Amino acid sequence: MNAMNEQSLEKEYKLLLQSSKKLPGEKRNRSENINNNSYLERQSQTESNARSYPRRLPFALTQAKGIYLKDSDDNIYFDCLSGAGALALGHNHPVVQKAIYSTIESNVPLLTLDITTPIKDQFVEEIFSILPKEFSKNAKIQFCGPSGSDAVEAAIKLVKIATGRRGMYAFHGGYHGMTNGSLSMMGNLGSKNHIPGLMADVHFLPYSYTYRCPMKACESKCNLTCSNYIENIFNDVESGIVKPAGLILEAIQGEGGVIPSDDEWLRQVRKITKENDVPMILDEVQTGLGRTGKMFAFEHSGITPDVLVLSKAIGGSLPMAVVIYNKDLDKWTPGSHAGTFRGNQMAMATGIATINYMKENNLLDHVNKMSEKFFINLRKIQSETSSIGDVRGRGLMIGMEINNKAFDTATGQNRNGELARLIQAECFDRGLIIEVGGRGSCVLRLLPPLIINEEQVDQVCSIFSDALKEAESKFS
Ligand SMILES: Cc1ncc(COP(=O)(O)O)c(C=O)c1O
Repeated sequence: MNAMNEQSLEKEYKLLLQSSKKLPGEKRNRSENINNNSYLERQSQTESNARSYPRRLPFALTQAKGIYLKDSDDNIYFDCLSGAGALALGHNHPVVQKAIYSTIESNVPLLTLDITTPIKDQFVEEIFSILPKEFSKNAKIQFCGPSGSDAVEAAIKLVKIATGRRGMYAFHGGYHGMTNGSLSMMGNLGSKNHIPGLMADVHFLPYSYTYRCPMKACESKCNLTCSNYIENIFNDVESGIVKPAGLILEAIQGEGGVIPSDDEWLRQVRKITKENDVPMILDEVQTGLGRTGKMFAFEHSGITPDVLVLSKAIGGSLPMAVVIYNKDLDKWTPGSHAGTFRGNQMAMATGIATINYMKENNLLDHVNKMSEKFFINLRKIQSETSSIGDVRGRGLMIGMEINNKAFDTATGQNRNGELARLIQAECFDRGLIIEVGGRGSCVLRLLPPLIINEEQVDQVCSIFSDALKEAESKFS
C-alpha cells in the first residue's frame, strides 16, 4: 500500500490511541462508561423502537480513524463492521478526507439531482473502468436515491418494464433492503411477518448453502441439486410458477450468514436465466468494490449479470447507490425512477478517490493476503473449540457459524444464536466490533476495513479467541 498514506494513518493511529482509556483487548466494564450510558439513555428516550445496532453495540462514538473507533468514554475499538461494509478504506482515510476538502473548496454544487457535472462524468468513467469489459461495453447506469434498497427498487422496475412480466425470483436467506419491494424479496421472516401488502409474485428458490444444504444433498461441496431443481422450475410447463421479470441474488449472501455461492452453481443459474431470457440481477451492495478479494463477487465464478446493483463502498464513505445494466433493458421512460438525492457530488468525489486508491495500491492483493491470514487464524481457533461449525467467506467478508453440538445433546435445544450473541457481547467488552447474522443470528460476521494490516488481523483474532472462551465458559 502507498507508503505515505500508510505513514500518515500510522501517525494518526498513534495520536488516537495515546489519548485513550482502554485499548482493544483490555476488558471494560459497561457500568463505568458514564458518558456512553448517558448518551444511550437520551437515545432511548427520543429515538425509535426500531433502532437496531445500539442494542448490541451500546456506545456513543466520538472519533474514528482507519480501523479504530473511539467512544465517548475514550475507549478504543477495532471496527470489524465498517459501516456494514460501506467503509472500504476504513474511517476518515486521508484520500477520502482530501476528496471531501477539495470538493468543498471548489464550490461545485453539492447536490445536482441527476444533472451531470465533471465529477459525475469522472465517477461513471471510474466505475465502468473496473467492471469486466464484456459487461461495461454494453452498460448503462442509473443513479438512485442513495440507499441500496432504493437501487434494488429501481432494478425491479427496470426488469419489469423491459420484460413486461410481473414476478420476481429471489432466494432463501437473501437480503436486499427494507423498502417494500426489496423487503418482499428478503428471506428473513422477522422483518416481514407483520407487514401486509408486500410486493406480490415473489417466488423463493433454494440457495447453495452447502453447510446446511436446503435439499439435504450436499456434504462439503455443492453438488448442484438445488440448481437442477431451479432448472426444473423453469422447464416444467406445470411448475405452477409463472416466468418472472427477473431473478435477484447475492453472489455471497451477507446478512443471510456470509454464504458464498458455489461457483459452478452460480454459473448454472446464469445459464438457466440466459436460456430462459430472464434478466439476472446481482445485488453487490455489500460485496462490491473489493470486499471479497475481487472488485465484484460475481467475478469469482466468471459470469456477468444483466443488472448490477451497487451501493455502500462505491460512495467511499458517503451515501451513493446505482444500478448498472445491459442497455437492451433500457426500455423505461424518462422519470421512471427518480429521487432528489441522486446527485451527491461529495459522494462521487470520495467514490472516485476510493477506486483510485484501490487501483494504485493494488488493494485487492492486500485483501487476499489479509484474508488468508484471517482464515489460518480463525480455522486454528475453530480447531480448538466445539462451538464453531463452519468458517467461511471470501476476501474480507468472513463468517463463523456457531454450531455447538453439546447444546443438542445436553438440552435437546439449539442455543447457537444465543451463544453467538454472547460472543459478540464479549468481543464488544474487549474492544472488538463484530456483527451477527444468518438463521437465528448464529453466524458471527467480520467485515473489517480493506486496509487492515497483518498485526491488526492477529490482534483481532486474539481478542476474538479470548471472547469466545469467556462466552463458552458462561454457557457450560
Ligand atoms: C446485499 C444487500 N442489498 C441491499 C441492502 C440494502 O442497502 P441499504 O441498507 O443501503 O438500503 C443491503 C444492506 O445491508 C445488502 O447487504
